[in-house]
Amino acid sequence: MKFMNLGSPENASRYVAVEMFKEIHFNACTLLGLATGGTMEDMYRELVALLQRHQTDISCLETFNLDEYFNLDAAHPNSYMSYMKKHFFQPLGMQESQFHLPDNDLIDVEGDNRRYDAAIRVKGPLHIQLLGIGVNGHIGFNEPGTPFDSKTRVVELSPETIAANARFFDSQDDVPSQAVSMGIESILYSNRILLLAIGDKKAPIMARLYSMTEPDTAVPASSLLLHPNVEIIMDAAAAQHIP
Ligand code: F6R
Repeated sequence: MKFMNLGSPENASRYVAVEMFKEIHFNACTLLGLATGGTMEDMYRELVALLQRHQTDISCLETFNLDEYFNLDAAHPNSYMSYMKKHFFQPLGMQESQFHLPDNDLIDVEGDNRRYDAAIRVKGPLHIQLLGIGVNGHIGFNEPGTPFDSKTRVVELSPETIAANARFFDSQDDVPSQAVSMGIESILYSNRILLLAIGDKKAPIMARLYSMTEPDTAVPASSLLLHPNVEIIMDAAAAQHIP
């Protein structure tokens, strides 16, 4: 696991965008695992600009998102489908068949989750899995205590996650308490993992992750110690407690 302090938030976002761009540009049928969240907005802006500037052919690009709120309409402005359409899918003109988010309705959710993992298994490994990190060390919405062989499933969001995501909703009570998250097993089924962490709030969890030598389910991101090709990209604020 390689920890990289790139100084400014712009440099950190740009590094990730350029690495994603190179993969998509030079590998026509790139398979990506994608994340949402405040951290990723600048990165997607940079990535879309790079792909447009270089007229990259994205007709064979296919993406699998990490998570979606449970039982929230895809058209809701705070759904991760809306987020992805706004920041990535629509600016690039991607077809519906090219992007996948975990199904989040009540109809056969377990069957849908199994099919989501199976699709990743059949098409994968993902060329790049993009990750953010929660203040409690979650990746996707795999909260502390999640087994490392977890599959895509409905999860309860922790109080810390609900509090952190309240900024996107009118009030904390409006934040869904459940989500569907890709499991840690599928996250690890990737050739390369890029985890982006920006800002002061992420400093304590980054210091904790840096200090860990063994994976421990108390910190879901420590499962990345099991993967051979992980870069943890930080700005100076997130890296402030790391020597
Ligand atoms: C979102 C996701 C989450 C976020 C994490 C950080 O798809 O998988 O793990 O990456 O909660 O969110 P922000 O960037 O808003 O701090």
